[in-house]
Amino acid sequence: MIKTVGILGAGQLARMLAQAGLPLGLKFIFLDPAVDACAAEFGEHICAGWDDEAALTDLGQRSDVVTFDFENVPEVSASLIESLCPVYPPPRALYQSQDRLREKTMMQELGIPVAPFYPVASRPDLIAAVEKIGLPCVLKTRRFGYDGKGQAVLRFQEDLERAWQSLGDSELICEGFVPFQAECSIIAARGRDGETVYWPLTRNLHREGILAVSMAPAFDQQLQARAEVMIKSLLDHLDYTGVMALELFLMDGELLANEFAPRVHNSGHWSIDGAGTSQFENHLRAICGLPLGETHSTSYAVMFNLLGEMPAFATQQSVDQFLSQAMHWHDYHKTPREGRKIGHVTVTAESETGLEARAAQFASELGVAAELNFETILSKP
Ligand SMILES: Nc1ncnc2c1ncn2[C@@H]1O[C@H](COP(=O)(O)OP(=O)(O)O)[C@@H](O)[C@H]1O
Ligand SMILES: [Mg+2]
Repeated sequence: MIKTVGILGAGQLARMLAQAGLPLGLKFIFLDPAVDACAAEFGEHICAGWDDEAALTDLGQRSDVVTFDFENVPEVSASLIESLCPVYPPPRALYQSQDRLREKTMMQELGIPVAPFYPVASRPDLIAAVEKIGLPCVLKTRRFGYDGKGQAVLRFQEDLERAWQSLGDSELICEGFVPFQAECSIIAARGRDGETVYWPLTRNLHREGILAVSMAPAFDQQLQARAEVMIKSLLDHLDYTGVMALELFLMDGELLANEFAPRVHNSGHWSIDGAGTSQFENHLRAICGLPLGETHSTSYAVMFNLLGEMPAFATQQSVDQFLSQAMHWHDYHKTPREGRKIGHVTVTAESETGLEARAAQFASELGVAAELNFETILSKP
């Protein structure tokens, strides 16, 4: 029986995994180079680099299963641990997701619709790609991009040179710009036996490339079914165990895949307070070989990411007041820093109209209502 879970990474995702795992009787060991890693409150923290062989060996030897909370864990590190204990999701999923070109090529081969894309390794490649795709298009680094970093939208011919100057040192991919009606994500958990469960398709709003708001449920059954088919083909192809998230664009009634994350995902945080079982608990259930929990919505939920520092009004209100208003505060206990994900709030309600009122009020207190065009996200497309 699995008792100790090792996690590569000790950020907020690892923290919430541990919070979900403690009631399952699990213990946690984290490996993370950050001295002040926020998951450390809930387990043992091995403070070491991702390539520290002695530390990786120590983690592998003392864990019954190892997982990760971010996808840039070097493949060799995951493989080293795999020689000592099972690693889920499979390192191959890490490998496929670490390079946008590999990732998009795999999705295309599986018949998952994606925007047109071309690899770019030189200035002439870029010119040729833009000619084939047309403007606008998006130039992205193939590796290490996150929260919209390492990307440039090209709208006019003169944007090419500027984008090349800022990104040309890396291997790149150029893809068609999708003028989407909405962004969404499907999150699924696949057990060791292949059993797969799906959370309701979640609607996402990004601000400056960073997730700002997620809402679920938000779409009809037809789109849900199509999204499930898309992520299932990825899960089965990779013989996957654990939670995966697939980011999608909704355009003209069609879903186009953007990228997948081989881990729990920011757009699934609402599931802690709004679903039968959270993405964190089901990830642990999957990797530990336990039966998966129900994923249906238990209420209407909107999640707001908190960036930089906890909002001042949060500390002025009593916890009771927030709980009675169905506002679920998650403070990751991180040192405030501009743009840093330091917490989130999930607002829940029993009806859609109830949620609208409650969430709109919260959005305006947070000062994001106007910017986020809250009406749009709450109306089903
Ligand atoms: N091809 C595209 N068309 C339109 N918007 C895009 C495109 N690619 C990315 N974006 C926008 O930028 C955000 C971040 O890009 P993404 O590819 O998901 O990279 P990251 O790894 O930084 O999350 C997306 O959620 C979306 O809002
Ligand atoms: Mg993304």
